[in-house]
Amino acid sequence: MAKTNAGILGTGHSYPEGILTNADLEKIVDTSDEWITTRTGIKQRRKAAPNEYTSQFAVRASCEAIERAELKAADIDLILCATVTPDQILPSTACLIQAQLGANNAAAMDIVAACSGFLYGLALADPMIRAGQSKYALVIGAEILTRYVDYTDRGTCVLFGDGAGAAVLGPVEEGRGILAAKICSDGRYEEQLYARGGGTKGGFSAETIARGDHFFKMKGNELFKVAVRSMTDISREVLDQAGLKTEDVSLFIPHQANQRITDAVANKLDVDNSIVYSNIAMHGNTSSASIPIGLDECVEAGRVHDGDVILMASFGGGVTWGGAVMRW
Ligand code: ACO
Repeated sequence: MAKTNAGILGTGHSYPEGILTNADLEKIVDTSDEWITTRTGIKQRRKAAPNEYTSQFAVRASCEAIERAELKAADIDLILCATVTPDQILPSTACLIQAQLGANNAAAMDIVAACSGFLYGLALADPMIRAGQSKYALVIGAEILTRYVDYTDRGTCVLFGDGAGAAVLGPVEEGRGILAAKICSDGRYEEQLYARGGGTKGGFSAETIARGDHFFKMKGNELFKVAVRSMTDISREVLDQAGLKTEDVSLFIPHQANQRITDAVANKLDVDNSIVYSNIAMHGNTSSASIPIGLDECVEAGRVHDGDVILMASFGGGVTWGGAVMRW
């Protein structure tokens, strides 16, 4: 068998037990279940307990993915962890995951590309596997966003949730696996979503913490338009690159940011709602974790079949965006 493509061999996901409902948010900020539901589609989101941290969920998701790929941690030679909410500044969360997994034969590093991070990981692991530089790569999206959310800012605090998803990639026969992947950024949109505190520019002190500089700040309605445009364009681009049309797609897993964004992208692409995956009602926006969690939930629900064409598209702070199309 000619093994020239990179495909997903196993997936996994994990969430914290804690749940924050719209009714809970109504008690702490000036919002309503009605506003959140109609403007975003979100009903609840998972929230990590104060003693929980990002790599714990990443490790649980990874163990599941490695087991389903019928591999051992020692088989993994590359770990890419997409996160904007790392355990700590140094070392990378990927290295901390490596140690917890006992994946001692892997190179490990983080990817900071916000919600597009998982697709960045796929796009980077893909050529490495095809070139034979990596055999089995573990790509993770893991976030504890609720730690960086200002619960006095109703424009952001209702959106974000916590969780992790993981996928093991390895060589598959030609015509299967990742058929096309593309990643993009435009730093000129930096002001649309940022957290300045803690870095070398904004610094950190009692004042920066009191001001809440470490919390996410967002221009939601401007980002909305960029999101719809970039996810639609990148979806068309990767399908073109793979020589496919939207009619060929069996499952579309967009980044879960807002149900209205998902609906607008699906509408512009002219794909039927029945093939568009959405879990935003239950989990909100989990940034880099949203696509791998969605993919694993689809696998578990039996929505993914041999030979299916799966389209994925994302956008996030930076801004960054990405798309990938694969044959299962
Ligand atoms: N409850 C009640 N009212 C609210 C809330 C809330 N939670 N949030 C905002 N409002 C109010 C605003 O104050 C505003 O009131 P005003 O008209 O009196 O000024 C009104 O609702 C409309 O505000 P908009 O921001 O225009 O509302 P919009 O329909 O655009 O929805 C939202 C806001 C949900 C943020 C939307 O713009 C969105 O989803 N944008 C994309 C954001 C996103 O996905 N960001 C994540 C990127 S991913 C990553 O990298 C982590």
